[in-house]
Amino acid sequence: MSKKHVTTTVNGDPAEFLTDPGTTLLDALRDELQLTGSKEGCGSGDCGACSVIVDGRLVCSCLMLAVEAEGRRIETIEGLAHGTELHPLQQKFLEHAALQCGFCTPGLLVASKALLDANPDPTEEQARYWLAGNLCRCTGYDKVIRAVLDAAAEMRQERRVPA
Ligand code: FES
Ligand code: FES
Repeated sequence: MSKKHVTTTVNGDPAEFLTDPGTTLLDALRDELQLTGSKEGCGSGDCGACSVIVDGRLVCSCLMLAVEAEGRRIETIEGLAHGTELHPLQQKFLEHAALQCGFCTPGLLVASKALLDANPDPTEEQARYWLAGNLCRCTGYDKVIRAVLDAAAEMRQERRVPA
């Protein structure tokens, strides 16, 4: 089967790759673009480890075909930090010890960013509901939720206080 040429934007940069029509976006990110932060946990849309943001919407990249990325704007975990400066969510995950093995962490961080993009001041209930599709087998969820709410508060404060 002939390969398809895909032109897209990943973390603000133009990107292009060749892919088989049946290849998932997750596999293309990892294997063609060497962006291995997004993980494959289940491959069936159940764990959230592969979460990316496509044109502002949170999606499981294991459920999206790579060819569907044509002309889209993709955000992955690799785009969260600015150089050596961690995103507030990353910093708060560290401060709250919201990870152990870390396998779920890229997906949780991307999903949390999508939450705060949509709702900068979520309640605990809203955060728990939003992240219900991101499974973690080792940390539990309390520390994650505390980290997300703490990051949200800090980001709101940063917006109020001009640097
Ligand atoms: S690997 Fe995509 S949801 Fe689990
Ligand atoms: S930290 Fe291990 S699966 Fe979440």
